[in-house]
Amino acid sequence: MSAARLRVDLARILADIDTLRARIAPARLMLVVKNDAYGHGIERVVAAAAAAGVEWFGAFDIRMGTRARAAAGDGPRVFSWVTVGRDEIATALDAAIELGVGDAGYLEEVAAVATARGDRPALVHLKIDTGLHRNGIRPEDWPTVVARAAELEAAGAVHVVGVWSHIAETSEETDDLARAEFLAAVDAARAAGLRPEVRHLAASAAGYARPEFRNDLVRFGAFCYGIRSTDGADLDGIVPAATLLAPVTRVDGDTVQVAYGSLDGLPSTLGGRVSVGTPGAPARCAPSARRPSPWTPGPALPSATRWPCSAPVRSASRRRRRWPRRSARSARRSSCASPRSSRASTSDPGARPGPALCRRRPRHAHRGRLATPPCPVGHDAVPASSRQHRRRTLRAAVRG
Ligand SMILES: Cc1ncc(COP(=O)(O)O)c(C=O)c1O
Repeated sequence: MSAARLRVDLARILADIDTLRARIAPARLMLVVKNDAYGHGIERVVAAAAAAGVEWFGAFDIRMGTRARAAAGDGPRVFSWVTVGRDEIATALDAAIELGVGDAGYLEEVAAVATARGDRPALVHLKIDTGLHRNGIRPEDWPTVVARAAELEAAGAVHVVGVWSHIAETSEETDDLARAEFLAAVDAARAAGLRPEVRHLAASAAGYARPEFRNDLVRFGAFCYGIRSTDGADLDGIVPAATLLAPVTRVDGDTVQVAYGSLDGLPSTLGGRVSVGTPGAPARCAPSARRPSPWTPGPALPSATRWPCSAPVRSASRRRRRWPRRSARSARRSSCASPRSSRASTSDPGARPGPALCRRRPRHAHRGRLATPPCPVGHDAVPASSRQHRRRTLRAAVRG
């Protein structure tokens, strides 16, 4: 073998999807195909899934949204949650893509583009920010925005087909708070006269494990491709669909070097943590005690022995030295550490847990972010505010 190859088993993806659909019924499954269907090839994945009866596809941006639409044909619904500007709105309307809207100003833009075209209302899914602080309407602004959406709906500019949010899936407690916020938002939307047909909140982890999070629709990405959560248990009937094959170019003691890039290829943060199946010299190496990552292609090779991979990496100590030094106070204010992110960070002795307010965390091993670096946007550097007050109140309500 001379070059690295990713072998994708489409039948396996369909089998994973079937397992998930059966598990969440009567809720429906949206197949998330962002980033070229998590690197599995969006056209082939979408065409096969549409032929197998998948009704919803979820694309992060307009580029993936239009590719999903082209591959899916006219029947299935395509939802894109990060579109930007009027050109993309127009492109989405041309391709019958439903738009995630997490901002009052953007709602006006969508309505303006649809009105100018004059053919049909834009289908929108309004997003409530339930604590992740990623592109969502703040709870305090929600009543005003849904009232405005109802006006725009009456004028024929938009049709609100969904209310949605995205949760951190970092702990049951924070997810419960987010769910309470979400359900309150759905009630407020209905009280404003909107009749959303789908409510969607959960992605893979919560959709799989927690029935009360499924609502009408679950946006499944990782699990459809057989990628389990970092530190997550194996999942019944869910098997990885991709196998990475790359030549082993050097064997050195109990490590090997594989001919695969560390920027576009295997993330360098996985160095020393990935097991590699090699066909030769089984006597030279004891099996690795490390937990194999989802990328492990061991079973694909005959007489394979698992070797820790030595993809070129900077050591943790070198990485730490390169980070700008910060005062203890600013480090305390800006580091991210939810309960699970601090667990994940045990792989990096340099990562120190901070106050447990930020929900940012490495969610899946395939993303390669196994350590927890300081939060670049200083999520915790927010003064006590009405938002925190509201969250405390909600927390008390959920406990009660
Ligand atoms: C808004 C949204 N929904 C769903 C997903 C799918 O998440 P998962 O891969 O955990 O299923 C993602 C992935 O990042 C997302 O951003």
